[in-house]
Amino acid sequence: MSQVVNGHRDISETLRSLYAPIREQLAEVEAILHGELHSDSPQVDRLVKHGFRLGGKRLRPALVLLTGMACGETGPDHLVLAAAMELIHTATLIHDDVLDEADLRRHLETVNARWDNEASILLGDYLLARAICLASSVDDPTASREIGRASRIMCEGELRQIVGCGDYDLTEQEYIEIISGKTAELCACSCRVGAHYAGASQELARTCGRYGANLGIAFQIVDDLLDVLGDETTTGKSLGTDLLKQKMTLPLIRLLGLLKPVERETVVALLSDPERQPREAIQPWLARTDAIDYTRRKAEGYVQLAIEQLDAVPATPTRDVLRNLAQFVLARQN
Ligand code: IPE
Ligand code: IPE
Ligand code: MG
Ligand code: MG
Repeated sequence: MSQVVNGHRDISETLRSLYAPIREQLAEVEAILHGELHSDSPQVDRLVKHGFRLGGKRLRPALVLLTGMACGETGPDHLVLAAAMELIHTATLIHDDVLDEADLRRHLETVNARWDNEASILLGDYLLARAICLASSVDDPTASREIGRASRIMCEGELRQIVGCGDYDLTEQEYIEIISGKTAELCACSCRVGAHYAGASQELARTCGRYGANLGIAFQIVDDLLDVLGDETTTGKSLGTDLLKQKMTLPLIRLLGLLKPVERETVVALLSDPERQPREAIQPWLARTDAIDYTRRKAEGYVQLAIEQLDAVPATPTRDVLRNLAQFVLARQN
């Protein structure tokens, strides 16, 4: 079943052990993805397979399967829908790398670096189309509705971010709203769908959605820390692009909020000038303030909120895995 084994370096030992209860299902999800990702045209086939060569952490499929297991039983629909979530996620990454002009993703050249922006846009659209086909192949149309809604919210988050680039007055609340849309919504959707298809009540599915949403917010806050502090060899993706694109993220919002007007002007000037290599230039400023600690504490707060939702989920070993998965988000290095 597992022609494409998810045994590459994106899955850390911690994640591998968290995924142990769903190992076989994840291998089946890989097989579904593998089946979706081929084309009779060799050039197109190479392009389509490229984005999936090294995988990724498979967090969204894991959320579908684990919330399903935590709420009841998982079945074939879960596998198909887990694959659909991963296709949507990968499509957003391929599009995101165009916006960020990134050249490294999942330890490989990005599609825009290896081919070009046109190919990236079309490949992202193609993966989204395949995801819609998969989601609409299950009898119960709930997933299609959920995915349609989540995609709209994700796009709104991305649009808000793009029009907000260079806005140094962006507030923390606006930032949270943006990441709730662009990142957390797909995690929330994965959890709601996982719960629903396991027979959960609407109320329990909503609670699982709130778990996913809070986990997703924490996930993006940590990602934004990695963008300023992380290491490209470990993450396998281009870093510093938030700064280069003048995307305001929580460490910077906090930093700017702490500075005196004259210092703020200096920092805004260095952030506005890509020639100055903002990622390096910002480090001493971050070190002078509590911006990093503050950001980490915020991520911890959202993980705590995610964990609190689990009180309403039946007490099983899978619920413990969901709790540990939320904690993993804080520790992740890639
Ligand atoms: C990256 O997502 C984009 C964000 C939402 C921060 P992941 O970190 O889950 O990417 P992969 O799937 O593991 O490559
Ligand atoms: C994009 O955020 C998240 C998406 C929902 C596509 P980032 O731009 O921070 O993601 P990375 O860091 O490139 O993976
Ligand atoms: Mg990016
Ligand atoms: Mg990032």
